[in-house]
Amino acid sequence: MSIPSVDLNAKIPNNVGLADDPKVRRALEHWQPKYLEWWRDMGPSDFAEDQVYLRTAISVDTDGWAHYDHVKMPDYRWGIFLTPRDREMLIHVGDETGKPAWEEVPGEHRNALRRIVVTQADTEPASVEQQRLLGHLAPSLYDMRSLFQVNVEEGRHLWAMVYLLHKYFGRDGRDEADELLQRRSGDPDKPRILGAFNQPCDHWLSFFAFTMFTDRDGKYQLAALRESAFDPLARSCDFMLTEEAFHLFVGETGLERIIKRSAELERLDPNGDIRNQGGIDFETIQRAINYWFTYCLDLFGGEISSNAANYFGAGLKGRFKEAQRYTDHRVIEDHYRLTVVEEGALKEVDIPLRNAMNEVLRDDYIKDCERALRKWNRLLEAMGSSTRLTLPSRRFHRHQGLYAAHAFNPAGDLVSADEFERRRDEWLLSPADNEYLRSIMVRVREPGKFANWIAPPAKGIGGQDLDFAYVRA
Ligand SMILES: [Fe+2]
Ligand SMILES: [Fe+2]
Repeated sequence: MSIPSVDLNAKIPNNVGLADDPKVRRALEHWQPKYLEWWRDMGPSDFAEDQVYLRTAISVDTDGWAHYDHVKMPDYRWGIFLTPRDREMLIHVGDETGKPAWEEVPGEHRNALRRIVVTQADTEPASVEQQRLLGHLAPSLYDMRSLFQVNVEEGRHLWAMVYLLHKYFGRDGRDEADELLQRRSGDPDKPRILGAFNQPCDHWLSFFAFTMFTDRDGKYQLAALRESAFDPLARSCDFMLTEEAFHLFVGETGLERIIKRSAELERLDPNGDIRNQGGIDFETIQRAINYWFTYCLDLFGGEISSNAANYFGAGLKGRFKEAQRYTDHRVIEDHYRLTVVEEGALKEVDIPLRNAMNEVLRDDYIKDCERALRKWNRLLEAMGSSTRLTLPSRRFHRHQGLYAAHAFNPAGDLVSADEFERRRDEWLLSPADNEYLRSIMVRVREPGKFANWIAPPAKGIGGQDLDFAYVRA
């Protein structure tokens, strides 16, 4: 199996041999100016001329795959990188386990695979759109650079998916690639496909909650797709996960730094009133967790899903770390115990495990989130704060799946729709919270300085100190 080398000088940097694939290269070169126009219109507003200290993917080796330098975002070298395979891959999930992986899309799975690729692809530009105004409220140059790094990499993830559409899905794929640049986050007439990607993300508490919870959903979706029998998709997702790790770092450490600062301000204030000190009180942090975590739970799809069963059986998607964690990759007999609502009460039922594959992935996601919560609570304890943050129940505030038809409190108990509405602002980030948060967030431009509501990070990034000029006007 030959592996094309990395061509960095091409108009579109790539390691997929575009130079020898004139049809796809021309199609992508035709799409490129439309992408740049979208970036100009919908990318980070007003920062196109700034020099940002960004990492750019230049290789697919695990070490030294990225190069750091000051660049203007529109000049970022968005490329197409697939993790190379040095041996023939075998399908390792579903009914076809053990047969050779697909290098082309099988006709019978064409529609399902196109839907999977388009749905993943749509989240990438959506998040850039949601975050486009945040540069104006950045708490430091370090954080501003993190935001822009995430933004350009979401743009690159779009490129990774658009390559698959152009290369493997013909005319339909090209049309889908164009439509990805036409939908807009939050637009009532042409919204993005998934709910969480149409929610406003207009201050940095939401940005960090978004990168903590929504990008983490992305990690689990990509991890499921890297097990796919369609090898080019598996290899694309594998490399995207390399970049994704930084996005999760931004979210998890960003929230941790807010929590740390809030604990400091709580101690500083004679009445322990954090808002009085211009910080973010723990109730608001909890409401942001409740809001974003639950919108992200929806992204995994229905609890009982024949689609999920079909995708698994056909080998289109696997479980998190399918190859390492499981020995039975066909899953014919097993069951999953699920909590459902029957006649106004919670009840446990067993469903075939294949139909519960969305729930299995959601379980892994929730465990990962719980790990971060434990870490934050240890920090709160160490700082002498009596506050403990929690994840709400997976049943709370859902818009998809079998819990969406009922109202629950954050503990997961059934409540009336009236009670939910009455207590909504106590449980979920409210318009008043958002207004307060935007009022305390004023852009900090001086290198090494941080806004009052957030603690500095432990160290700088890309080998630089904290007072480095990560963004230069
Ligand atoms: Fe992404
Ligand atoms: Fe991401």
